[in-house]
This record gives sequence, structure tokens and C-alpha cells, in this order.
Amino acid sequence: MPQDSAHLRKPLSFVRRSNKLKPSYQRSWDAALGQELLDVPHGDRDTSVAPGFSIDWEAEYSRFGGHGNTPLIVEIGSGSGEAVSAAAANNPKTNFLAIEVYRPGAAQLAARIRREGLTNVRVACIDAVELMDHLLPAASVAELWIFFPDPWHKKKHNKRRLVQPAFVEKAARVIAPGGRWRLATDWSDYAVQMREVISASSSFTNPHAGERAGEESPLTRVRLEDLDARSLGKETHPLPLEEALDHEGGWAPRFEGRVLTDFEAKALNVGRQIFDLTYLRSE
Ligand SMILES: C[S@@+](CC[C@H](N)C(=O)[O-])C[C@H]1O[C@@H](n2cnc3c(N)ncnc32)[C@H](O)[C@@H]1O
Repeated sequence: MPQDSAHLRKPLSFVRRSNKLKPSYQRSWDAALGQELLDVPHGDRDTSVAPGFSIDWEAEYSRFGGHGNTPLIVEIGSGSGEAVSAAAANNPKTNFLAIEVYRPGAAQLAARIRREGLTNVRVACIDAVELMDHLLPAASVAELWIFFPDPWHKKKHNKRRLVQPAFVEKAARVIAPGGRWRLATDWSDYAVQMREVISASSSFTNPHAGERAGEESPLTRVRLEDLDARSLGKETHPLPLEEALDHEGGWAPRFEGRVLTDFEAKALNVGRQIFDLTYLRSE
């Protein structure tokens, strides 16, 4: 079966409610299109990639003063780009690609890149799954970042989560051997899902396996006080210590290259725990 039709039947990891651009964002969009903002011809959806379209990444990053032949870091779901633009400013010899389906976010990020004079960031307003399947060559990515993907925390919506077994295979294809996959989430049950599905893949190893286990684990803390339910103002069902203990651990220390975004600050304000995960693409 062609890959496209198989993908179309899968639920998307996003719902685009208001996607219209206000005039200032439209101006940023128009100014950036074909420059900081990649002009990707769409397929049957406006977040898909037209069949046969490809990008010469080295040539793309060599334009307006950048360098083509340097490591590439891809951030999926960049929002308005707080994390990726800070990282790009701190690492001028690394190229960054920000993927965001939400048009106002992509427009804001494109404007931010221009304002800050960053030559090493490009934005694409497409579905990350399309990027992985059609635009990124095998082993072309030094690091893949997914910080606070939409949690889809209701059971019936879990299938929309981005990080699941089929996506792990896509990540394994594009990340170069020795490269890293960094993730963060404020939703404990998604953190457990990430740990489970990535650890199950023979393509990745966890350099922090066994770390932050037991009483040190953020998962234990969440379970002891039912912090996820509490943060939503719901009735809580705390577990006793022996049931709450996360014996497995494997959580990474906070990645120092990840700046505090508004999204994370809001999560912390309502008492949520942050889980960082890092995996190495096996050689
Ligand atoms: C909860 S926000 C987090 C934004 C940002 N990473 C932060 O920490 O502030 C998740 C973002 O992922 C984007 N997103 C969800 N699914 C996506 C996909 N398949 N491809 C690209 N972006 C996606 C959403 O539009 C949203 O902006």
C-alpha cells in the first residue's frame, strides 16, 4: 500500500482550530516565505508535502550567510519558537529546522528569526510525519527535539499522540548513528509512554537508564500526590508509596539547552512535574 494512503487513515497529532493569520502575522509570513519560512508545496492537505518535492538541505542553509555542511537539529512542534531560536543564537555553527503546523506560531517564529538576524534556522509549517517520511534523508539529523508535544491525555485521544511505535521507526531512520533524541513532557502518562516505546526499540539506548528511580523519580512524585489530576482541579487519587514507586527510572536531567518556555512555566505554575528524556541512536 502506498505510504501516503496508509498515513491518511491515521489520526493526526493536531487539530487546527483557528489557523487564520492576523494582519501583522500575515505580513511576517509573506516576508519570510521562501526565506526563513520554507515554501513547501502541499499535497492533499495543507500540512502535507506534494509528491516528488525534495529539499537540498545543504544548499538551503548556505543561503543568506549560513553554512550548509554543519550538524542539523530538528525541533518538532516549536510553537512560537522560544526554544529553537535561543538554541540557534547560542549555537551559530549548528543548523536548526523548526516544524510547526500552527500557522500563527510559524509566522511568529519566522519574524523572530528575522528580528534576531539568525541565519541558521528555517521553519516549515507542515506535519512532522510528512517531514520525516518525505523531506529528511536517512541519518541526516544530529538531534531530534520534541518538547511538550500535545498530550492528548484523555484515553480516547491517546491514539493522536505523536510519540508511538511507528513514529519511533521514523525517528530511527532520520537520526544519524550516535545522534540524540531529546524529549520533554509535563504529562506523566505520556512520559511513561515515551519511555516504553523508545526503550522497546533496538535503534535507541538510554544513557540515563536506571537514573532517577524510586523516590528520586518525578513519576513517583506525581503518583504520590496525583499531581496530574490536581493540576486540572480534579479529584485526586494519590497512591501509597509502595505502589507509587517508579522502580525503572531512566529520566534524563533537565537538558541545559532547553530554555523555559511560556508553556513550561504555565505547567510549573499549576504544580506539574517535568520529565526530560534523552536517547542515543545506536551506532
Ligand atoms: C503543547 S505545544 C508546545 C510548544 C513548544 N514546544 C513549547 O514547549 O512551548 C505543541 C505544539 O506542537 C505542534 N504540533 C502538534 N503536532 C504536530 C505535528 N504533527 N507536526 C508539527 N507540529 C505539531 C502544535 O501545533 C503545538 O504548537
